[in-house]
Amino acid sequence: MGSGLLVHRGCGSNGSNDSHGLTIVTTCRICGDAIAAFMSFGEMPIANGFLDPGSVGNEYFFELAPAFCAHCGMVQLVEQPAPERMFHDNYAFHSGTSQTMRRHFATFARSVIDGPLRGRTDPFVVELGSNDGIMLRHFKARGIRHLGVEPSDNVAALARGLGIDTIGAFFNRALADRIVAERGRADVVLAANVMCHIADLPEAAAGIARLLKSDGVLIVEDPYLGATIDKTSYDQIYDEHVFLFSVTSIAKAFAPHGLALADVQEQPTHGGSMRYVLVPAGSRPVAPSVESWRAREAVQGLGRPDTYERFRQNCERSRAALMQLLDDLHARGQRVVGYGATSKSTTVTNYCGITPKHIAFIADTTPIKQGKLSPGAHIPVRPAEEFSRPYPDCALLFAWNHETEIRAKERAFTAAGGRFITYVPEVRVAS
Ligand code: TYD
Repeated sequence: MGSGLLVHRGCGSNGSNDSHGLTIVTTCRICGDAIAAFMSFGEMPIANGFLDPGSVGNEYFFELAPAFCAHCGMVQLVEQPAPERMFHDNYAFHSGTSQTMRRHFATFARSVIDGPLRGRTDPFVVELGSNDGIMLRHFKARGIRHLGVEPSDNVAALARGLGIDTIGAFFNRALADRIVAERGRADVVLAANVMCHIADLPEAAAGIARLLKSDGVLIVEDPYLGATIDKTSYDQIYDEHVFLFSVTSIAKAFAPHGLALADVQEQPTHGGSMRYVLVPAGSRPVAPSVESWRAREAVQGLGRPDTYERFRQNCERSRAALMQLLDDLHARGQRVVGYGATSKSTTVTNYCGITPKHIAFIADTTPIKQGKLSPGAHIPVRPAEEFSRPYPDCALLFAWNHETEIRAKERAFTAAGGRFITYVPEVRVAS
């Protein structure tokens, strides 16, 4: 497929909704300037919409097309399905499925306890998108007052089962006011891999500004635009990720709500993430990291449209190389299995045109995904144990962000001659 956009259904003005609750924007969600998609990944299903084999005919699709706002620098999706289609009582994404992520959130929580919470009397921590409580469990264990806000009921129930105080709701100003009335203002608000999900970011930012104490701290962590551009990790682009933040764009998004960027710290998670520390403007000095990352982004060209045109070309090159490899392996009768039914893999399989002909199944440890079909491409998802019965010739590593953990676990596979296929930053086959 070329770069031409598919015809938008309905549409016209900013924020228009079709009958399925699909939002289509023609102006930036942050600054209101006109935007247009710089590429299209085509018709895409819900990334975590793993489906029962019997419900194939009812699948929902939208057009996955990112845009860059030349005014404020925000990269965002032009179309986004209604949040209720993505986050519900059957949400397939469970944060605690990898050891690396469990360790990451333990360290994250410790850094908050030893950092912004140090010396505070009876502090209160709120986490937005707290999922199965992977981070809040560490605050609970230390007896720290906490509250999770999680709209997906199934994962919220897992957290409650661990005794983690969790409200089942989408966050907005009204909920912020309710939390303040019932429990007081927060010392720290955390949002890990969730702020980029919230299409009405100005509403969430306004809510956070009301929820935080005047010396409170907001810590946001999300996949980093600079890493996605640098590595052509286009699979970070899917329905839930309505925004791909940079240091420059996130500062501009929060400034109108009185929240200033005070520090940034690069993180290795999700193939390249950034942690942003935001505070009520003027409440603490700005660390040198903010200016140095802004300067790096200027050099990388994140504020220039031609960067996104190059990214589009790189995506097309990556797709062609991956499909050439998979077609070749198929022609040679090699057995290929997918490893990790990630949200990201939905963009890869649908954009590239990977089918069950190329991949027999996808092995995954998450019980809710097993026995289902992958969204759009309809590749069966099977329990991880089936990976070795018998080992395939090649494993397409959809969970490439966990490569170190997976390679350590699957030494017997490579020892038996098995090879991993990865596609970030380049398509590569390696034992
Ligand atoms: P994740 O890294 O959270 O990616 P995304 O944000 O794109 O969904 O997902 C990891 C997926 O890979 C999850 O479905 C669990 C699976 N997985 C395995 O099956 N085996 C493993 O050893 C690891 C680390 C993950």
